[in-house]
This record gives sequence, C-alpha cells and structure tokens, in this order.
Amino acid sequence: MCGIVGFAGTREAAPVLIDGLRRLEYRGYDSAGVAVSDGAAINVAKVKGYVKNLSDMTHDGADIRGRIGVGHTRWATHGAPNDVNAHPHMSSDGRFAVVHNGIIENYALLRQELTKNGYTFASDTDTEVVAHLLEMYYDGDARRAVMKAASRLEGSYSLGVICADGRLFAVREQSPLILGLGVGENYFASDVAALVPHTKNVIYLDDGEFAELTPDAITVYDVRGRAVEKPVSKVAWDVEAAEKGGYEHFMLKEIMEQPACFKATVEPRIKDGRIEFENFDLTDEELHDINRIIITACGSAGYAGQVGRYVIEELCRVPVSVELASELRYRNPIIDRHTLLVVISQSGETADTIAALRECKARGARVLAIVNVVGSTIAKLADHVIYTWAGPEIAVATTKGYTTQAAVLDMLAIWLADRLGLMEKERYDALVEALHAMPGQIQRAIDLNRGIHRLAKKLCKYNDIYFIGRNLDYAVCMEGALKLKEISYIFAEAYAAGELKHGTIALVEQGSLVVTLACYEPLFDKTMSNIEEVKARGAEVLAVALEGNRKILSKADDVIFVPRTDPLFNPIAQIVPLQLFAYYVAKERGCDIDKPKNLAKSVTVE
Ligand code: AGP
Repeated sequence: MCGIVGFAGTREAAPVLIDGLRRLEYRGYDSAGVAVSDGAAINVAKVKGYVKNLSDMTHDGADIRGRIGVGHTRWATHGAPNDVNAHPHMSSDGRFAVVHNGIIENYALLRQELTKNGYTFASDTDTEVVAHLLEMYYDGDARRAVMKAASRLEGSYSLGVICADGRLFAVREQSPLILGLGVGENYFASDVAALVPHTKNVIYLDDGEFAELTPDAITVYDVRGRAVEKPVSKVAWDVEAAEKGGYEHFMLKEIMEQPACFKATVEPRIKDGRIEFENFDLTDEELHDINRIIITACGSAGYAGQVGRYVIEELCRVPVSVELASELRYRNPIIDRHTLLVVISQSGETADTIAALRECKARGARVLAIVNVVGSTIAKLADHVIYTWAGPEIAVATTKGYTTQAAVLDMLAIWLADRLGLMEKERYDALVEALHAMPGQIQRAIDLNRGIHRLAKKLCKYNDIYFIGRNLDYAVCMEGALKLKEISYIFAEAYAAGELKHGTIALVEQGSLVVTLACYEPLFDKTMSNIEEVKARGAEVLAVALEGNRKILSKADDVIFVPRTDPLFNPIAQIVPLQLFAYYVAKERGCDIDKPKNLAKSVTVE
C-alpha cells in the first residue's frame, strides 16, 4: 500500500530517494518523506500530500544532506494523512528513523508496553512502535537492535531503517521488498520501478530476511542473523517501461500498450501451433484428478476470473466458481486435493489474495497463479505460475493487467480442453489462429474508437450509470463499471441484464445512463428487449456491439463498435473502449486519473 525506498552511496541521498518515491507514488500518495544520515545525525523532511510537495519543500532534496537514507510514500492505514503521521518516524533519542509498508498487527500492545517504559509517541501510526523498539534494544549494535525489534512484530511489514551513524537496513515480512545492486551504491525499494533507473541487478528478499546495505555491499541475513547467499536476478524491462513516454497519464499509455502486451503474453506460449506453458504442466493422472476449479482474486483480477469462468466451463465442462479472496479466506471453504485453485493478481502482493491462497493450499488445493510481477509473494507461494507479460503497470486502474490475465485464462481453457480430449483439432487450430489475431483486433478496438472522447464529453454528466449484459457480456460489465467508478467517482454498477427486472429497474428513470453490452450474439435479442425496457423508463442507452451490427443503431442512443473476434475472446476487445470511455469521462470531470482518491495500486494490507 505504501512505497519505501533506501539508498547507500557516495552522492547525496535525498534526490535519489525522492526520484524513487515519484516512481512508487502509485502505491500511495497521502504523504511523503525522507530521512538521511550524514554520519552523525539524521535529517528528516516529510509532508502531507504528493511527492511533489516534498520535492518543492526540499528543493528536490537539495536541502537535506546525507549519503544514506530512506524514503516513504504513504497510503494511510493507522492515523490520518497529515504531516505528523507521515513517515519516516524517529526514535525519541534521534538515533533511528523508520519507514514502513504494511500493518503491525500487535502495535497496540507494543505501544502500551513502550509507554509504560517511558517512551512517548508523536504520531497515531502503528509504525512508530518500531522506532521506539529500536531505541529500546540498541546496545551499541544497530544490526542486533533491528533483529530484536523485528522479532517483536506481528503482521506484514517491509521496513527501511537508518541509524544516525550511517547504517542502513531493510527488513521483509509478507510485504514486497527488493534490493538493487549498483556500482559504488546500493538501493532497496518496494518495487523494481524505483530501481531500474539505477540497476537491473536485484535480489528478492524472502519473508523473515533482512539486509544491511553499504555503498559497496549488501549482506542478507536470515531471521536468526546468519548471513545467507542470495541469487542475483536480472530485471527484464527497462526504465522507459515505467515512464509515461509522452502520454498525459500512465493509464492512457497502458491502454495503448495492450496489443503489444497481449502479444508478449501469448506468442511465446504458442510453439508450432500448440499452446505450452513454461512453468505449468500436469500429467494425465493429475488432470483427471481435478474435479473443480476455483478462481480467486480481488477487484479487476476477479473480473478477469469471471471471463475465465465462462470460457473454461464452455470449453472444458469442469465446474468453475469465482470467489472473492477477501471472502474465501474466512469462509471455511470446501476444498481438497481435487481442487485446482487459480489465483490471479497483477501485483502478486494483494493481502487478501495471498491469505486465500494460503488457506486453500493448506486444505490440499493445487495452486496455479497468474501473476504479472516476477518474484512476488503469490508467485513464490503457488505450485505453478503463468506470468502475464504486461510489463510494469503504474496507473492505479488496471488495464493491460486485466487483458493479459484474460488472455492467459483463454489459453489455459484451450490447453485444458485439449488435454482433457474435449476439443476437435479444427476448433483448436481455429482458436490458436484467433489468439494470434487478437493483438490486431485490440488495436482495431482502439482505432474504431478514436472519437470516444466526444462521447465521454456528452455523457460525463450522468451520476448513475448501469452496465448490463448477458453471459460473457455480463463479465465485461463488471470490469467496465469498476473502471468508471474508480477513476471518475461516478456511481456505476454492473447487473446481469436478465436480473434487472427483479429489482434494480426500479431505479432506472430519465437521467439514468444504461451501458448495454450486446456482443454475445446467442442472447442478442434478449439483450435488445432489455434495452427496450430501460428506454421505456426514460434511460439513455449507450451500447457496445460488434462491428457490422446494424440492428443496434435503431435501439441505442449511441454505439461503441468493437471488431469481431472469436466469440470467446470478445471480452478483451470490448473492454478496451470501455477503458477509454472511463478515462475520458474522468478527464472531463477533472479527476486525477493516475491517482484516484482513497485508492492505491497494490492492496498489501487487509
Ligand atoms: C483495478 O483497477 C483495481 N485497482 C483493483 O481492483 C485491483 O485489480 C485489485 O486490487 C487486485 O490487485 P492485484 O491484481 O494486484 O492483486
């Protein structure tokens, strides 16, 4: 939820830290701060609001001197977003400064204990206990203090700690933290986006590990303080991938990248016309042992799962349910070794999804993760991983993350149906051919809707928007509505079109906009009847239909056309103009598109 960075080098730390925070700002933007050490004392600057406020306040970091430091950009959990609760937090003696991502679950008890011992608290945060614990355990050895303090913490945390004498530490427990190896300087960050301007050589810390960084070396320790050898990995993408590249917003850039991301995700997995996954295969026995599939995820990843459910059930005739991870984790689910659990996550760090994964794995499920971030917690915990090769996704509202997840689910369905002996060769070949064509179709979905900003200008006045559709169209409605609400703050909700008359239609009246997805042709006429029903109650209708469909023109007030693909892949082409529509509506309404209020990119706390 928050972003943390650390730097040890021979140049000034603050400008490097602030640049890193800018690159992590998608993780939270309630406040920002840095603490640097000049070898004798710690200098801190922190302020409510965007990283820009911090940068303005410190003249881009020039005002705070020191060559070792930590930085933080906050998504508030404990304590209001203000200057005092902003990180870093200091120990009372000024010896330690701490930044933290995650939640210290036992902070209330620790705070009580520390208060009894005479420590006073300046903030309402859970993090401040760490600074005082460090002071309490310091006996001349900062490393020992870090280890002892960490051993008292429960919950999820990645911590950055500096000591006034110039020592720098990073600690990881159930919260992402990556170390970067430079030349004469070293770094850590919550995400590689802050590391790639400096280095592509990284070390993924595991839970329970901590590290000390100096300009010349990184030493990693296990929970008992024994040095451990860690492999060095190479980050596959470069700095441009995490920058806007001339676009006004990351979201627009990421929408436009979708043809390329789809291709990067799909093409390497098709060899001689056959689908093969590099890290996922099952024996025939294992395959036939599976009697149900549960897909679990949060938000858009769950909505990609809804698309996957229709496609897998259609092709594989295996029962599939899609479960919200936040519910599944507490539901005492009926799961055993015959269950294939498909876990979907762009970040690979979503707390609820991780908890649901652990819960189901403990009950015997085989776990397949569909993840975008290499080395993330979900990727590590799963039995098998299929990566989406979407590249870094910075905008809080996911776009290319969602379409590449849907792409992997489509491939998985075809692969599974084939392995189960349920697919004729002709159909298999046709679907693989259709997959190859999809990057072009996604591009066409963009090109057909170059004028969508005009539609957005006309329709941005609506405050209640209903998305309706049937079958795969309904699955897309869920994501279309979420895109709109999260960035434009318009009330938007998805309903199965056939369900409307069981209650929700009571809300439809003049002044309602009903976005009707009408691409699922077997039920097209039924969806047309739903259009009649809402129009009869005064609603305006914006339809999404397949190119060449003339019938829709007489029914809907406005139409977004999308190219014809294989019907199973329609959702991917359909969502693209809906992403663009949400983007331009939000822009018309003057919203901060890449940093929507109350949200953060990756929800690493419960
Ligand atoms: C999507 O636009 C949202 N920001 C959000 O719903 C997101 O999809 C969800 O939090 C899951 O994230 P993940 O894919 O990183 O697990």
